[in-house]
This record gives sequence, structure tokens and C-alpha cells, in this order.
Amino acid sequence: MKFWFALVAAVLTGTLAHSQNMPAQRPPMGWNSWNHFGGKVTDADIRSAADALVSTGMRDAGYVYVNVDDTWQGQRDANGVIHPNERFPDMKALGDYIHSKGLKFGIYSSPGPKTCARFEGSMAHEEQDAKTYAAWGVDFLKYDLCTFQDVMKAEPDPLLRKKLMVDAYTKMGAALRATGRPILYSLCQYGFDDVWDWGPQVGASMWRTTDDIKDRYERMFIIGNSEAELARYAAPGHWNDPDMLEIGNGKMTEEEYRTHMSLWALLAAPLLAGNDLTKMSPADREILMNKDVIAIDQDALGKQAVRVYQRGEFSVWTKQLSGGRTAVGLFNSSWTNFAPAVDLGKIAVEHGGHIHDVWMHEDLGVSHGELSLPVKSHGVRLLIIDPQ
Ligand code: GLA
Repeated sequence: MKFWFALVAAVLTGTLAHSQNMPAQRPPMGWNSWNHFGGKVTDADIRSAADALVSTGMRDAGYVYVNVDDTWQGQRDANGVIHPNERFPDMKALGDYIHSKGLKFGIYSSPGPKTCARFEGSMAHEEQDAKTYAAWGVDFLKYDLCTFQDVMKAEPDPLLRKKLMVDAYTKMGAALRATGRPILYSLCQYGFDDVWDWGPQVGASMWRTTDDIKDRYERMFIIGNSEAELARYAAPGHWNDPDMLEIGNGKMTEEEYRTHMSLWALLAAPLLAGNDLTKMSPADREILMNKDVIAIDQDALGKQAVRVYQRGEFSVWTKQLSGGRTAVGLFNSSWTNFAPAVDLGKIAVEHGGHIHDVWMHEDLGVSHGELSLPVKSHGVRLLIIDPQ
């Protein structure tokens, strides 16, 4: 009896300790080099991004990861150890610089022989690379399928093909854990083979659900909407990732960027800014650092929103928040402004409540029934409804 009691207690405390140590209890926030700098990124760009995260207030708003995406890699030496290329003279020094700013250091690789930009991948060097990253002080790894797809193509059986991929991701997950350094593991394989089913088992804290985002309203909105059926896979510790933010990159309107930020917050998505942080307009800052919107994304319950209503180009998403509150997003993806009549009771919150509009910074009073709010073309109204 005593033995069983002790065993159950040990398992329970072990599990608790494990979940407390797990990174990403909230959706990770930070910045990544790819969307703005692409394959030209340098050490100096990363340092300026780190500086700007601090000077703009982004770090204090929660954006702490500074992630170097593809094209940092150079050659392996005679012992197989990976070295950065001439654009990154000293990765350990870069990591130290990032840490000295109170930020975290992210890096990128692939389970294939080459990355998507055809730089050196980690295939057959997983443990060695994980150790190198840990020695550099890396806190985050984005692991991008890329040329591992060629390895998979050689396997005709789809089940074995999937197994090859899952094994490759498992291998790096184990290698990261074996370093003893907490390194957040971010999968990027574009949502193939229901990654949300097996992502947690390979130790991932987040996984991409689609192919790449573009700085275009249509692409952004399609990607966000493709997560409509995935709410149950998000929880503290592991998140669906609809890709990095494009806010501030210049090809969407302010209204469209507000829609982007709102949808990602409702989806409890990782918030990785992808713009040039040294050149942010007041609107970029206001959109990326709206406290209420960030709080919706980061809410302690860790629930992802559900699309509860869709008719034509109007849709409503609701996200359960702590304290019995609900975040509600009204989206108009048409080319005209309109004011749809929404029956809050029917589609969002049964008993209505106090309504706060988080972009307008305005309290709209109490509502129980039908609500008619104008929503601009490609725009959003993002509300928090508090039943108290
Ligand atoms: C893929 C990923 C992108 C980016 C590039 C880098 O396309 O999905 O996010 O990392 O590779 O080559």
C-alpha cells in the first residue's frame, strides 16, 4: 500500500515538476529576422534588433526572443562542428550580447542536409549541433523541414514517410534535452501529417500549421483562418503557430495589420515580430504593443479562439479568457465597410456583459442582446466582454 502511494506521489510530483519546467507556458513572443532581412541578415542587424526591442519598449511588452533565421551557417570543420559564416563572426558573443539586454537567443536549422536557403542543415549532426547551440547560449531552435522532404520522397510508403519525419524531429528534440539547457523547440514543417497530434511528443513547444505567410492581407487571413479547427491542440506548453508577424513590413494597411494582430492574439499564436524594429512607425508600435491585445494572446487559460460564426465575408471568433471573460473578434474580409447586427447572446456570450473595445480604447457599456458595430473593410472589432 505504502509502496503504491509513494509511486503515485512520485509520478505526480514528477509530472508537475516537468510541466512547471516546460518552456512556453504562454505563447512565445519575440522577433525573427526572416520576414524583413531574409538571406542577407548580419550580426549587426541582430544586435540592432536587440537594441531596438529594448528602446522601443517591445521587450517590456513581452517580446523577448531574438531569433536568427536561415543563412547564418558556414561550414563544418574536420570534426563536423558547425561554424557560422562571415556575416556572423562570433555566435557566442552574439548570444552574450542578446542576453545582456535581458533577451533570449534563437537560432534556426533543418533536419535535412541543407536548409531551405541551401545552407548547412543538421542531418547526421543533431547531437553535435545541439551541444554547439547550448555552448553559444541558444534558447530557441526553429527546425525547418526543407531538404528533409527529399529524404522522405525516397520512401514510397506514406506511413513510413511520416515515421521518417517524426523520427527526425524526435532526434533533435532528444538532443536538445540532452544538453541540459532549456531550449524552446519550434517545429516548422508547414502542418504536414497532423503535426498538432505528435508535436508535443517530440518535445515541441510550437509548430507551424501552414506554409509561409506573406505581407498581404489575403494570405495572412487565409493562414489565420486555416486554424479554425485546431483550437483543441493549443494549451500552455504547446501552441499552433500560424507563422511570424508581418506588421510593419509595409504591404498591408494599418487596418489590415490590426486584423493580423487581432487574429493572432485570438489564436493564442506565438507573436514573433518580423519587421525592421529600427524603423517603426507610431502605428506599428501601437499595433504591436497594444497591452490589451497582448493580454488576450497571453491569457493564462491558454485557450485558442474558435470561429463561432461565418456568413459570407463576416466572421466572429471567440476566445475564453481567465476571470470568466471572453474576447470576441468581428472580422469583415469584404471590400466594403458594414455594420453587421450580431446577437451576442446567440453567438458569443450567453448573458452579455460589459464590453470593452481594445483598439478604440473605449468602453461600450453593457449589452445583452443584439449589437450592431461598424467593421471596416478588411478590418476588425476586437472586444473583451466581462460578465461581471
Ligand atoms: C521556410 C520557412 C520560413 C523561413 C525560410 C528560411 O520557408 O517556412 O519561415 O524560415 O524557410 O529559408
